[in-house]
Amino acid sequence: MSWAVKDTAVVRELRELMNLTPAECALLAGLQEDAKAVAPALVEDFYGRLLSHEAAKEFITDQKRLGGTLANWFVELFGGNYDDAYAQKRLNIGMVHVKIGLPVRYPLAMVDVISMHGERVASKNGEEAVKAFRKVLALDVATFNQAYESNQLHHLTELTGSERLARRVLTGLA
Ligand code: HEM
Repeated sequence: MSWAVKDTAVVRELRELMNLTPAECALLAGLQEDAKAVAPALVEDFYGRLLSHEAAKEFITDQKRLGGTLANWFVELFGGNYDDAYAQKRLNIGMVHVKIGLPVRYPLAMVDVISMHGERVASKNGEEAVKAFRKVLALDVATFNQAYESNQLHHLTELTGSERLARRVLTGLA
């Protein structure tokens, strides 16, 4: 059943799986201004770490522009509305990284910087808000990764002419 879930429906499915409630969404939405205030420090930590790593650094082109997009991305985590439009936007962001040939381990390994700053913001609204933030961040990480997996499945399906076969190749069962 899981393979039949595609595109933005993946985010809908995960929202249900994680039981992200309207109350949790509201708690996060109340913190968007705080997230804006913290975003510059997050961007500084994020690029500070990436730029000190030779292989990851190769991908950083325009740090100023990238910093702005990362800050927006962080503030939108506290948007409180994780609907299909949000899902599409986040899938597209994942796809941007697929297209530049960035190994997924780099974005995944940077999540701790985001959770550190995000949890600090969320803690202003108590433990429930921290829990809500963890859910939304997990949702985003899963969506980011989904863009990579969907891309692989799409190309393998084109190559093999069958999604069923493509899935078997991906799992090593072919
Ligand atoms: C959790 C981790 C990350 C997040 C949330 C993130 C977020 C973003 C966002 C929002 C954009 C703008 C996408 C658009 O144009 O619509 C972007 C672009 C980009 N990111 Fe990331 N990013 C992450 C990790 C990384 C890492 C680890 C690298 C490099 C080592 C990287 C390199 C880039 C580059 C080069 C672009 C610009 C691509 C282009 O427009 O040509 N990102 N990122």
